[in-house]
Amino acid sequence: MKAAVVSSFDSAPRYAEFAAPVPVGPHDLVVDVIASGLHPRVRSQADGTHYTSTDTLPLVPGVDGVGRGADGLLRYFILADTTVGAMAEQTVIDTRRSIVLPEECDPIAIAAAVNPAMSAWVALRQRIEFRAGQQVLVLGATGNAGRMAVQVAKLFGAQQIIAAGRNAEQLAALPALGATDTVLLDGDAGRLGRAAADVDVVIDYIWGQPTTTAMVAVITDRADRAKPLTWIEIGSVAGPTASIPSAALRAARLEIVGSGQGSVSTHEILAELPALAQEITKGTFDIAARPTPLSDVERAWAETARTTERIVLTP
Ligand SMILES: NC(=O)c1ccc[n+]([C@@H]2O[C@H](COP(=O)([O-])OP(=O)(O)OC[C@H]3O[C@@H](n4cnc5c(N)ncnc54)[C@H](OP(=O)(O)O)[C@@H]3O)[C@@H](O)[C@H]2O)c1
Repeated sequence: MKAAVVSSFDSAPRYAEFAAPVPVGPHDLVVDVIASGLHPRVRSQADGTHYTSTDTLPLVPGVDGVGRGADGLLRYFILADTTVGAMAEQTVIDTRRSIVLPEECDPIAIAAAVNPAMSAWVALRQRIEFRAGQQVLVLGATGNAGRMAVQVAKLFGAQQIIAAGRNAEQLAALPALGATDTVLLDGDAGRLGRAAADVDVVIDYIWGQPTTTAMVAVITDRADRAKPLTWIEIGSVAGPTASIPSAALRAARLEIVGSGQGSVSTHEILAELPALAQEITKGTFDIAARPTPLSDVERAWAETARTTERIVLTP
């Protein structure tokens, strides 16, 4: 079969022949892949930098997607760590790590949106007890996951949604999606502190130094330091480590939690997916997707640096 094949962690996958997948376990099902998203998680899988990566090559990247098996059902699936990923004409899924999709859904929208949308959805549902009426800061709101976080927070009834990011053009589009205020991350932390001083929850995609700066700014301007502030670490586009000032943890009722593969079980993630897929199918979210033929995988890899849309490969 044809697939996107990684033969070296130093170069982009190539469109090439790869051995067709073979089911092994009782829940394995070979599916014809219809769509698979080129998420940051897939890039780190393909360049060997993700924390779950092994040195095994060659590999087919792709951690999730939409496909149809011999049972005729349309499914969204999340793959376990494997060298036969979703960016191929076929892959083998564990049906227990899949949900059956409504036939009327758009596979491109599902493949583009579930990964970025579930980051905030699962965090607010499974990692904390988010309540309608609470105030949210989305730190790093201009990426695909951040844009979805704004929309998920709105759907869940957030009273205030402050969207912060460094891309002015992308930021300007966020009030139409539910942001009640926007803050350009341009080095002046004062504005962020004033705008977000009273939030209940921070959904953080950035980490690194910008998170340290933002945390200090929010806590410094906080009127009621005893009001709980839950900081959810979800992404780390600015760096894998951040210095947390000890005073931040003492001077405010700050709690830092993470949300992602591991801190949330696959079972817990799957429990949220039918409702999320339903909202995507209903058209609740504005989804920036760019379908691209699998045969163009090399060009698609280069394109991710230039587009804010989520590239979705279609075999
Ligand atoms: N834990 C989970 O469940 C989960 C799920 C999905 C995604 N994630 C993680 O969330 C992060 C974002 O994912 P995504 O899908 O939104 O990726 P994406 O669409 O590629 O967006 C990343 C965004 O980060 C911004 N950015 C990069 N460096 C930045 C910096 N130093 N300061 C501020 N913004 C910066 C970029 O904006 P500009 O360059 O335009 O400024 C870009 O829009 C990634 O780390 C991803 O691995 C986690």
